[in-house]
Amino acid sequence: MYEMKPEYYTGIAAIDQEHTRLFELAQETHSLLTNDTLLDKADSLVHLISELINYTRTHFSHEEEYQRSIGYTGIEEHAAMHRKFEDKLSEFDFDSLGEDFNSQNETVEELLGFLTTWLITHILQADMLYVKEGKAGKTI
Ligand SMILES: [Fe+2]
Ligand SMILES: [Fe+2]
Repeated sequence: MYEMKPEYYTGIAAIDQEHTRLFELAQETHSLLTNDTLLDKADSLVHLISELINYTRTHFSHEEEYQRSIGYTGIEEHAAMHRKFEDKLSEFDFDSLGEDFNSQNETVEELLGFLTTWLITHILQADMLYVKEGKAGKTI
């Protein structure tokens, strides 16, 4: 359900591999949401979000490094989008999560919606721009 589709591929192997992992994390978030046997999801959610924070940080630094290497003209704007995503992820408030099954599920659902919407939109509308510029640069 949450996996790489042909249109998400940039053609840069390392970047595609990292995007694939991010979709896997979205899939894990979905699995957590639909898990009806786990009555307290707090620990899993905290674990998942810290994995997301760490992994996106690594991915973003790789992307920004690549953008610097090709002299990408939109690097500042792009990096600002990455920082905004990181801020939003760290805004998920786990201290007030509570033990209520339904309210925990609401938080997982919110995370899943935010993550997948951002990931797809960002890859298609923002990542593809530096990919295009990188490829154009190579042919000159
Ligand atoms: Fe990306
Ligand atoms: Fe990006």
